[in-house]
Amino acid sequence: MLKPVRNGATVLVADDNEGIRELLSAILSEEGYQVVTVKDGEQALNKLRRRQFDLALLDVMMPRRSGFAVCRAVKMAPETCLIPVILVTGLRSHEDKIHGIESGADDFLNKPVNKEELLARVRSLVRIKHFTDELESAETVLLSLALSIEAKDPYTQGHCERLAQHSVALAERLKLPEEQKVALRRGGVVHDIGKVAVPEYILLKPGPLTPEERKIMEQHTVIGERICAPLRSFRDVLPIIRYHHERMDGTGYPDGLQGEQIPLAVRILTTVDVYDALTTDRPYRKALSQADAFAEIRKEVQQGWWDGSLVDELEIMLRDSEASRTEGRKP
Ligand SMILES: [Fe+2]
Repeated sequence: MLKPVRNGATVLVADDNEGIRELLSAILSEEGYQVVTVKDGEQALNKLRRRQFDLALLDVMMPRRSGFAVCRAVKMAPETCLIPVILVTGLRSHEDKIHGIESGADDFLNKPVNKEELLARVRSLVRIKHFTDELESAETVLLSLALSIEAKDPYTQGHCERLAQHSVALAERLKLPEEQKVALRRGGVVHDIGKVAVPEYILLKPGPLTPEERKIMEQHTVIGERICAPLRSFRDVLPIIRYHHERMDGTGYPDGLQGEQIPLAVRILTTVDVYDALTTDRPYRKALSQADAFAEIRKEVQQGWWDGSLVDELEIMLRDSEASRTEGRKP
C-alpha cells in the first residue's frame, strides 16, 4: 500500500462533535500526519489563513460558518486556494453534493467515516498537494529571477508588472482562451528572463550597441526559452519568450517570423511592450505622452513592424479605462 508522500503532512480537522474530532485525529496521527483540530467554521478559517496546511477535513454542519462557507472562502483566496478540502457530511442528498462541488471541495466523505476510505482519500490529496507545491516553488523561482533582472535596470522598474496587466486586459477584450491569458500574465513577467546571460555592460549601456553587442543581446530570447522549457506549466509561455522581438514584416529576431506566423498572444505582448517602452523614461530620452507614443507606434505600423489592429485596440482600451477612471472621480 502507498504511504503518504511526505511524513508529517499537516491536516486540519474541523468538527463540532468532540468524539468525531478525536476519532479522526487518532486515525490520522497514527498514520504519521500532524493533526490540528478545531470545533467551528470560524476557527477553521483562521487556522487555515495563519499557517500552512496540506489538507483540510471540514464537517459540513458546524457552528459559526458551515463547511461549505469555509471551503468557498479557502478556495477563493490565492494564499489558501491550493489546500485540498474534503467535506465530511452526514447529508447524503444530491443537492448537498452539488453545493459542495460548487464550493470548490476536492472530495467528500460520508459519516460514519470509514477508516480505510478516509486514509485513501487523504493520502491521494496530500500527494497531489505535494506535487503542486513543488511546481509552485519552481514557478516562484523563475518569476523572482525575472523580477531581479528587471530590478538591475532602474529605467524598467515596474515594466514587467504593467506588461502582464495590460496584455491580459487586451487578451480579455479579444476573448482569448483562459490558458492564453495565464500565459500572458506569466510571459509579461518572464519574457526577458534570458537577460540573465547578457553582461551588464551591454544591458545597461546608455548608447547604441555595436553589432557584436547586439548579437549577444538578441540571444536573450533563445536563452529565456531554454531556461523555462523544462517547466511543463510554462509550455504556452515559451513562444511568448522566444518571439517577443519578432516583427510583422519578418525583420525581427530570432527567427524572422512574418505576420500571423507570430502567434496572437505574442503580438499582444509585443504591442504592449512597445507602448510601455515609449511611455517610460529611458537613458537616451524622456517618456512620451500617450498621444505621441501612439503616433510613433503608428509610424512603425506603416513600416510593417507591428499589428495595426492590436495597436488600435490597445489605444481604445487605454482610453476606455481612462474614461472610467475620470467617471469614478466625479462626485
Ligand atoms: Fe526582450
